[in-house]
Amino acid sequence: MTQATFTKARTFTHLVSKEGGVKYPLEALNVCEETFSPLEVAYDYDAIKAQVSRATIEAGPNSIWRYKAFLPVESDNPIDVGTGMTPLVKSKRLARQLGLKNLYIKNDAVNMPTLSFKDRVVSVALTRAQELGFSTVSCASTGNLANSTAAIAAHAGLDCCVFIPSDLEAGKVMGTLIYNPTLMAVNGNYDQVNRLCSEVANTYGWGFVNINLRAYYSEGSKTLGYEVAEQLGWKLPDHIVAPLASGSLFTKIYKGFQEFVKVGLVDEKDVRFSGAQAEGCSPISQAFKEGRDFISPVKPNTIAKSIAIGNPADGVYALEVARKTKGNIEDVTDAEIIEGMKLLAETEGIFTETAGGTTIAVLKKLVEAGKIDPEETTVAYITGNGLKTQEAVQGYVGEPLVIEPKLDSFERALDRSRTLERLEWQQTNV
Ligand SMILES: Cc1ncc(COP(=O)(O)O)c(C=O)c1O
Repeated sequence: MTQATFTKARTFTHLVSKEGGVKYPLEALNVCEETFSPLEVAYDYDAIKAQVSRATIEAGPNSIWRYKAFLPVESDNPIDVGTGMTPLVKSKRLARQLGLKNLYIKNDAVNMPTLSFKDRVVSVALTRAQELGFSTVSCASTGNLANSTAAIAAHAGLDCCVFIPSDLEAGKVMGTLIYNPTLMAVNGNYDQVNRLCSEVANTYGWGFVNINLRAYYSEGSKTLGYEVAEQLGWKLPDHIVAPLASGSLFTKIYKGFQEFVKVGLVDEKDVRFSGAQAEGCSPISQAFKEGRDFISPVKPNTIAKSIAIGNPADGVYALEVARKTKGNIEDVTDAEIIEGMKLLAETEGIFTETAGGTTIAVLKKLVEAGKIDPEETTVAYITGNGLKTQEAVQGYVGEPLVIEPKLDSFERALDRSRTLERLEWQQTNV
């Protein structure tokens, strides 16, 4: 039963440009040569419909590959490092604090193997890279993508060279180096790294997951849509809130929901899509608020480095999704991002990174502005892990109480800390 979807015919048919619908073969291509717009994978949905049902998916692997019929890979043995099927947590304490009745947290802070949603896109991209004959894989990254590419390349035995801005958090750098790739730390921001990588991709015959394999890679994010629908009991939510960097993740969750409707796995529903950015890098949010349908690139300056893309490749498409679904795009300050990280940790026991802090802070802002109905089934996407961005909260959380290994030392420290707590409580409640 499980293997049934693995041996069926290919369901993806060609690449097509987002503007103008120019068709391309299923190769490694950067963008449409005529319109310069991104390329999208096209599928034969009748073929998918004939292959899958709720039952076949439920009987599939406990990973993103249970949705293989919807993904652009041919192999019967895709790279499966247990990516996906992360928890969808029904929030109690955060929901109560925000005044929401049906809030869920999609927790990709515990995604495998490198604790961010990027493991999804990289599992797909590197499987496709192998199918297309690449032996060296690469990426331009804000941190998490470098972690995933290096780890999954190591697992698959592929050579790996990744590029990051040189000012990333220690956890992101070590979380790449441990897999022993070639790591290029570029003195510049992500947009400069990305431009350099486009030149390298054109010169070297490497598979860049987010450049010449981008059409395949980005499809991996659809699984964040499929999983939520399945985990809600084969239903779509009313509202989702997700972080925006290039804007790809956001548009692919949308595509995932649409596809499930198209093949009859869920009933059609108007899902509102709201996006989250850091104020210090908010080109999509600014365009949304100013009613523009174009993005003006910005120079990033925020602690939310993983989502600091000043010139987002899919920004206009993310704008389009937010507008047509009657969602919103908001941005929050670095201080609000830290508060968002702490709020999620203290109410739900989930330690997210700055991108997740941004999502929670925007969720709170939208609720306070009356832009999320308390009754709506709302899903907040937490896409990365806080252990990788500890610098962000350094100095904003408590300190350990250092004691001697003696009972009286413990009791004195406990007493001091309770007195302190009482004083703090009195100060905030006068
Ligand atoms: C943790 C995290 N969340 C969200 C994003 C946004 O992804 P996208 O570029 O698809 O918008 C990123 C991008 O690197 C990320 O690292």
